[in-house]
Amino acid sequence: MTRSADATQQAFERTLSDDVIEQYRRDGVTRIPGVISREDAARFRDAALAAQARIADHYAGSSIFNQYVNVWTQDETLRELTLNPLIAGVARQLAGVPLRLWHDHVLIKPPHNGAATEFHQDAPYWPHDNCRHALSAWIALVDVPVERGCMTFIPGTHVHRGLRAQDLSDSKDLFRVAPDLQWERRVTIPLRAGDCTFHNSYLAHTATANMTDDPRVAHVNIYIDADTVYNGSAHPVTDGLGLQIGKPLDHELFPTVPR
Ligand code: SIN
Ligand code: NI
Repeated sequence: MTRSADATQQAFERTLSDDVIEQYRRDGVTRIPGVISREDAARFRDAALAAQARIADHYAGSSIFNQYVNVWTQDETLRELTLNPLIAGVARQLAGVPLRLWHDHVLIKPPHNGAATEFHQDAPYWPHDNCRHALSAWIALVDVPVERGCMTFIPGTHVHRGLRAQDLSDSKDLFRVAPDLQWERRVTIPLRAGDCTFHNSYLAHTATANMTDDPRVAHVNIYIDADTVYNGSAHPVTDGLGLQIGKPLDHELFPTVPR
């Protein structure tokens, strides 16, 4: 283990106290500073920006962000970040259940993109049943102040299950399906490069437009309960894989997180 990896390991041991786990489970989000070093964040940022020329944009045509899904299968450098065992270990401690990778995505908001990522929950988009816990590690590869596409969360909203999928481009859509949430407290979490938030897949969240001259680059690892079963709904990550409805996602695209 290198000195900086060793320091990172120690930081996790310090950070993930019972208090942090309890705070995450209550609020549905927690900020973990320095999950990777600033130097590694810059290395992964460069890899993500370079990958834009090679990897298809899943959200082409939208100004909200450019979305590159499952970069770990297409880029050796970014694979290291998606399969980072320390980040997966933090996710497992927060979730409290064995996990597997669902997918990663690199989300780039170009300079002055002019569009927020509007309030939504993540889980309603996914073809899953019997998932006890799912969460995203949203890793900042550049400094993300409020003005550069920073995330805001509505703490505690992960108790809202069964809502239909919400439209990322419609600022009112979440509040159409859950009007009371409009009056709840919001928490905005700016991040330095190398910092991370972990958020529950049912937590309502949004991100501002990028109003700066530099791209906002985030790498997101999404983990699900390892025993989650496939429910057959259409989804670009699972369509065509031949998964069996009602069975776990046992496929090389969804590796389990080592214990
Ligand atoms: C964003 O980074 O703009 C949104 C990320 C998310 O919805 O999880
Ligand atoms: Ni989301």
